[in-house]
Amino acid sequence: MKIAITGSTGLIGSRFADLFKDKHKLFHVNLSSGADITDRKALHGLLSRANPSLILHLAAKTNVDGCEKDKNSDITDLKDQGVYVNNEVDLGSLKTENWKDKTTAFAVNVVGTKNLADWARENNVKIIYVSTDFVFDGGKEDLYEEIDDPNPINWYGQTKLWGEKSINDSGLIVRPAYPFGYKSLAKKDFIWTIIELLETRDSIKLISDQIITPTFIEDIAMGIDFLIEKGTLGIVNLVGNDFLSPYEIGMLLAQEFSLNKAKIGKISMDEFYSGSAKRPFKVRLQNDKLRNLGFEMTDFYEALKKISSKSRT
Ligand SMILES: NC(=O)c1ccc[n+]([C@@H]2O[C@H](COP(=O)([O-])OP(=O)(O)OC[C@H]3O[C@@H](n4cnc5c(N)ncnc54)[C@H](OP(=O)(O)O)[C@@H]3O)[C@@H](O)[C@H]2O)c1
Repeated sequence: MKIAITGSTGLIGSRFADLFKDKHKLFHVNLSSGADITDRKALHGLLSRANPSLILHLAAKTNVDGCEKDKNSDITDLKDQGVYVNNEVDLGSLKTENWKDKTTAFAVNVVGTKNLADWARENNVKIIYVSTDFVFDGGKEDLYEEIDDPNPINWYGQTKLWGEKSINDSGLIVRPAYPFGYKSLAKKDFIWTIIELLETRDSIKLISDQIITPTFIEDIAMGIDFLIEKGTLGIVNLVGNDFLSPYEIGMLLAQEFSLNKAKIGKISMDEFYSGSAKRPFKVRLQNDKLRNLGFEMTDFYEALKKISSKSRT
């Protein structure tokens, strides 16, 4: 299938591109090849010439604290443009040309996504949008299902949610969380950050009260391909099977990579992120929908074993 892929130089996108470069005909929509998703006119021209059968959209501004720094200027611009009322954006009235070449969270995550989604709708092409668990506030005691109401608590999550709202019913939204995998040249994921800290520092502190749903990048890439084959529409939580604190993850990493567990101390989420953008507290996403469709995710420790055995070869 001819797929226009955005974000293929990033952590998840680069792995999808590598795994599926022979199966699919990939058309890369990347900044490095001169394609900025905030530039609607150029983007639409490029897509029309490429004529893909599917858009896989992974590009985003993913730096959560960097996104938070954009919040005030984004809101000021939205108010000046008359499209920001009661903390909501009127996506239908948004003049996307006002955001061309901007690098803020709103420009990339909302306008960029809307530019892609509008082209997909106008040309009857399916779009798959890679969203995030950060659309939730992390306050739910039970597991989050696809039907739960989002309530983002930081600007990254808010802009990703508005991105979701740009996707119509004939698209697919997948929500991975805390991606980790084999060592990547594209970006260091959170497990490799912990491993490197354990190797280089005398002691480190990891959050013990926050719960996250780590997701093996191999599963994200294979899961997306599976959902393409199935033709699934709507929203799917594309997350791992285990719910763990960063502290528990650090202990498992130390065990699997033969690092010193005694170096790891505990810290609360509030203290760790003091002065940073808020993070969801307990974001346990349920993956039953994906399992019922026929796709099994890898258990966290199994994935770690695969990663450590590959890193030894
Ligand atoms: N990482 C996470 O913790 C996480 C968790 C859940 C969901 N997600 C979602 O998964 C997706 C992939 O995340 P990731 O961590 O793999 O991303 P990433 O490594 O941060 O890469 C971001 C990608 O977006 C591209 N990009 C940024 N601005 C662009 C623009 N204006 N026009 C075109 N391309 C642009 C970048 O291109 P350049 O390399 O050229 O700058 C890069 O390829 C994102 O949508 C993210 O929201 C991520």
